[in-house]
Amino acid sequence: MPAIIVIGGQWGDEGKGRVVDLIARKAHVVARYSGGNNAGHTVVNEFGESRLHLVPAGIFYPDKVCVIGNGVIIDPKVLLEEIDDLQSRGVTVEKLHISSRCQIIMPWHLMIDRLDEELRGKGAIGTTARGVGPCFADKVFRAGIRMADLIDPEAFRERLSFLLPYKNAVLEKLYGAEPLSFEEVFSTYSEYAAKIAPSVTETAELVQDALERGETVLLEGAQGTLLDLDAGTYEFVTSSTPSSMAAGAGVGIGIGPTQISKVVAVYKAYQTRVGNGPMPTELVGEEGDTLRERGHEYGATTGRPRRCGWFDAVASRYTARLNGLTGMVMTRLDVLDQYPSIKVCTAYRLDGKVTKTFPSNIRALLRVEPVYEELPGWQKETKQVRAFEDLPPQAKAYVQRIQELVGCPIDMVSVGPEREQAIIINPII
Ligand code: GDP
Ligand code: IMO
Ligand code: MG
Repeated sequence: MPAIIVIGGQWGDEGKGRVVDLIARKAHVVARYSGGNNAGHTVVNEFGESRLHLVPAGIFYPDKVCVIGNGVIIDPKVLLEEIDDLQSRGVTVEKLHISSRCQIIMPWHLMIDRLDEELRGKGAIGTTARGVGPCFADKVFRAGIRMADLIDPEAFRERLSFLLPYKNAVLEKLYGAEPLSFEEVFSTYSEYAAKIAPSVTETAELVQDALERGETVLLEGAQGTLLDLDAGTYEFVTSSTPSSMAAGAGVGIGIGPTQISKVVAVYKAYQTRVGNGPMPTELVGEEGDTLRERGHEYGATTGRPRRCGWFDAVASRYTARLNGLTGMVMTRLDVLDQYPSIKVCTAYRLDGKVTKTFPSNIRALLRVEPVYEELPGWQKETKQVRAFEDLPPQAKAYVQRIQELVGCPIDMVSVGPEREQAIIINPII
């Protein structure tokens, strides 16, 4: 069976890790193909609660091959800490393979991420400060260091000797920051390299071989389509290239579009966002605080409070169509259990006119007023429900209405963070 993509349909944190952990059961290979450790994928299973930033969520199954593909950028320190943490909790990482083509997050990327945000002041993006934007920028600027360079001492010395004087000039002259010491960076990163090197391989070949054997490859997206560099609310987006969308999966892992059989996007039953930028359905004040507390909506990477609001069907239909979805997953239905009524945004009012188009103009998006439809709540606990027909009628109606508005079948509804707290409507694998 060919490759299946799981991506985020909103502004990230939809529950991609939780979904991949469940459906990976039937996959052979689980791979990350985009982003970096700006991602925080929470998984709750027999190993307790884990927050993964770089390692694919298939890692908890000892028989699954896990891949970090060429489209992922790697902070080696974070990767090693994550591996150590997993191992200390009894998770085996022997089947983790890392692409030699991954770009490396270097100390100057971390510094520049923070310094740029400071310089932007009120216009700050609200990044995760993990060096992601500057690292992707250097990739495009052809001034990056790849895993293949890092693990080859001669190549690394040569590349660092070439890049560091230039990076130090930028740090000192542009930002007024302290320069970095060649010897310190070289020795620290050489130590990381020696530890990571045994897991580095030609991952595209590994994935192609698996597909040739008829195995199922599960591609775990990071971030969400509304954070995508092309499709998202630019400039309040992440910097992943080629993209945080399904279309980027092939490039980020090394397969072609004809090898992809399904594209599934994960959506929360409502909307959240961390960082700055427009969010038409955001609830400010008490209403927003209530939803945040009911959903424990705090970032898995930075711990920042997430901005919360009602489900935005305009934005969701936009992302469903851009990704050519074959199906969607709705997570966190249980968070809405207590509401007597629930709103869904079905259109925007922009300068007096009603529209269902998601505006590309950020100023327009900041101005739109959501047009809401109000649906009755169910006010019953759903976390123990395992079959769609056993949901309260109002909850079923809510799921069906969202399916209709987004224009895509819902394959699964998640009613809790634990692996088994899910209602499977159409098995994804
Ligand atoms: P990801 O980045 O898309 O993997 O999502 P995150 O892990 O950043 O955020 C999703 C959060 O929702 C995590 O804390 C999950 O444990 C939690 N979660 C996922 N699905 C459900 C669900 O159906 N109900 C509840 N209550 N929590 C969920
Ligand atoms: P997962 O995979 C939610 C957001 C940041 C910020 C913007 C740019 O867990 O869904 P960056 O550090 O990437 O330059 O920050 O993107 N962001 C995420 N928000 N979930 C994520 O990943 C995110 N990755 C980046 O908050 O607004
Ligand atoms: Mg997350």
